[in-house]
Amino acid sequence: MTANFSFQRLAKCSQTHARVGIFSTPHGVVETPRFMPVGTLASVKTLTPSQLKDTGAQMILSNTYHLHLQPGEDIVAGSGGLHKFMGWDGPILTDSGGFQVFSLSKMRKVTEEGVTFRSPHDGKIIELTPERSIEIQNILGADVIMAFDECPSHISTYEEVEAATARTYRWLERCILSHKRLDQALFGIVQGGIYLDLRSQAVVDLEKFDLHGYAIGGVSVGEEPDMIRKIVQDTAPLLPVNKPRYLMGVGTYKEMIMAIASGMDIFDCVIPTRWARHGTAMVKGERWNLKNAQFRRDFSPIDADCPCYTCQNFTRAYLSHLVRSQEILAYTLLSIHNITELIQFTQKVRNSILNDHFTKQFAQWLN
Ligand code: GUN
Ligand code: ZN
Repeated sequence: MTANFSFQRLAKCSQTHARVGIFSTPHGVVETPRFMPVGTLASVKTLTPSQLKDTGAQMILSNTYHLHLQPGEDIVAGSGGLHKFMGWDGPILTDSGGFQVFSLSKMRKVTEEGVTFRSPHDGKIIELTPERSIEIQNILGADVIMAFDECPSHISTYEEVEAATARTYRWLERCILSHKRLDQALFGIVQGGIYLDLRSQAVVDLEKFDLHGYAIGGVSVGEEPDMIRKIVQDTAPLLPVNKPRYLMGVGTYKEMIMAIASGMDIFDCVIPTRWARHGTAMVKGERWNLKNAQFRRDFSPIDADCPCYTCQNFTRAYLSHLVRSQEILAYTLLSIHNITELIQFTQKVRNSILNDHFTKQFAQWLN
């Protein structure tokens, strides 16, 4: 533990596990609960850092797997680290790469040592191990780095998930031993698939180490929504109360509300930027395709209640025109709106917990 990081719990809901906190990092604070936009390749697609800041973004996520392949961590280091390289002076979290190898690359091989796979760029064999992932993340220089974990597929047997969970623990020990920078917080990841006994054992194991934060991984990988709910509801309350808790890869309204009610603090999801590039606006938990004829002559903003630059300055008719014409500006304006929408949502949830109105105000999402 170092003085570079702290997590303070400011309030707790009287009826659920929901909480409000402040996570301080060397590049600023993260007010929780909070949605974290995804900038896989050191860019939140279509947005400049100043546009991103205006959405209310605090911490953003980037990826070890992608940045290692392109441009390579040496080039990021050459420009003074990830913050300088991408011009983002707020907090950054990097994911460790293992999950991306599992979900994105063919021809991978997992052993006790680590994961080997073929680079999709030049076919070269690449090996990622716990030591290598941490070394790359130390070089990239994000505020928060993630442990290198094995995320079993949702069709794995109990024995396979048990083995992956045990391996994730052994890999965590290796991550801790190779982590060299005190100005970076290492978060551990709870695996265990759909098996609650494995999840609770994983939490007990993780708690043997005094980490700066804890994540729930291995959810939203193809299992039923009811199962996601069960995993998070049963696992989150077991995590240490005085540390930030991050639910990886989850960011719909319904899932975030359920997870916040279970005591989770931080979320990430590619949906707002991905949907923006498909011409889709997110409005109060719904998705609107701006190509639809109904928007062609609709001269109101996407959402009159939304404070974002897009809603303050442009109409649905204009956005519909841009999307139909495949103008690049469409994707920027929709990304600004969609990210603001999700961050505003978590901000409203935060305020509701501070006033202890959470279950009343968000009742429609709670079941
Ligand atoms: N992103 C979404 N799920 C996961 C996970 O289980 N592990 C890691 N490292 N990243 C993730
Ligand atoms: Zn908006």
